[in-house]
Amino acid sequence: MTDLSTRNRVHIETFGCQMNVYDTELVRALLGKAGFTFTEDREQADVILMNTCAIREHAHDRVYGHLAELKAIKRARPLVVGVLGCMAQNLKKDLMDAEPVVDLLVGPDAYRRLPDLIVEAAAAQDAGLAQRSMAVDLSEYETYEDILPERTHGVNAWVAVMRGCDNFCTFCVVPYTRGRERSRDPHGVLDEVKALAAQGHRQVTLLGQNVNSYRHEQWDFARLLTAVADIPGVARVRFTSPHPKDFPPALLDAVATHPRVCKHIHLPLQSGNDRILDLMDRTYSRKDYLLLVDEIRRRNPAIALSTDIICGFCGESETEFQDTYRMIEEVGYHSAFIFKYSERKQTIAARKYPDDVPEPAKVDRVNRLIELQRSISLRRNREMLGCTTDVLVEGDAKKSAGQWMGKTDANVTVIWEKGDSPTQPGDVVPIAITRVSVTALFGHDVRSS
Ligand code: 5AD
Ligand code: SF4
Repeated sequence: MTDLSTRNRVHIETFGCQMNVYDTELVRALLGKAGFTFTEDREQADVILMNTCAIREHAHDRVYGHLAELKAIKRARPLVVGVLGCMAQNLKKDLMDAEPVVDLLVGPDAYRRLPDLIVEAAAAQDAGLAQRSMAVDLSEYETYEDILPERTHGVNAWVAVMRGCDNFCTFCVVPYTRGRERSRDPHGVLDEVKALAAQGHRQVTLLGQNVNSYRHEQWDFARLLTAVADIPGVARVRFTSPHPKDFPPALLDAVATHPRVCKHIHLPLQSGNDRILDLMDRTYSRKDYLLLVDEIRRRNPAIALSTDIICGFCGESETEFQDTYRMIEEVGYHSAFIFKYSERKQTIAARKYPDDVPEPAKVDRVNRLIELQRSISLRRNREMLGCTTDVLVEGDAKKSAGQWMGKTDANVTVIWEKGDSPTQPGDVVPIAITRVSVTALFGHDVRSS
């Protein structure tokens, strides 16, 4: 048996979405319980793990780049290299074959096996054996219910309430890498949030690949969100990512009226053209989506919207793209993540539709949408000029320790001089907005002299 006391320092790098950041916290908890320790310094590590993302080609490329760097380190000293997460699940044996530096592949439902697999890999290395292992079974049940993620203390905490996705949007690899939808017991979620509030976390973000399809016996997402927001000590509750198909009136009401549910909905559109939406199998039309936007704003016009867009999906013509352009103008999002379509192995689109929009056209469309969104974000931010808004203080501004950075309810970044009023991360403070940019609001604390 390999002695853990001499080969126990783990370094974890995380790529991709918030769910992956959360999963890294789970992995840290599982490894910590098994006696491993952690180091931020790759040079000190006995074990290097990469928690990976498979959503677009770019995410893959970054992981391959890092693996290339690890080859040199591994030549110099004993090292266990593991690839975790969606890319492990998506590429499986292909990744093992392509990257001899990798000792372990562990998919998102198999993290409980990780401590044993690391010990076995280290033992095999010590014995001079060329052993490599793969744990990529998907589960219909695994929610890591009993594992409390090892969080870094701060204002924000993320809580996964469901995992997996059953939607099978044709472009998306998530149903294949993260498996079927399953929701956690609401009582476990509520206990976890109570503990987070007691530890001083002020903002909780409920996470799920398709968070608003949460369902556990008599509990739907609206009920869960409200119950979380009712927990004393929680100042703000957010959720991500929802699908537009799962917004019953009770959920819209909860967002519109609960004082601690943030007035912000991330509402992934993907495309503004009905033929493309149909090819993507999004299950809503342009009109359905716009009706939902009206429903949201009728309940509370202060609710900010953000979105995800894919440009250059299979067969998308210039005219069809222009429908997306017009829709972005029409909705007037506060912000948008805009992506080039990237064909993913296993997906329905990869099997059924040719990825035929030329790369320069994809790039051009992305750039046009980014330009458009910048002008809309600026316009939205200008609406805040002269207003005083409640800001949750997150910490020092990136560029200067003399300034605070925080977020509005609508999730817009605010920066202001520290001044003389007593302020700590986690406080909600009133900031008068005097200047804006595309990405941030600037102002002063109205309590300061
Ligand atoms: N290509 C480009 N973007 C994608 N997304 C998901 N799959 C792909 C893909 N194959 C985007 C969608 C989704 C966000 C998380 O990533 O816009 O909402
Ligand atoms: Fe992917 Fe669609 Fe599921 Fe979102 S809802 S994770 S885009 S399949």
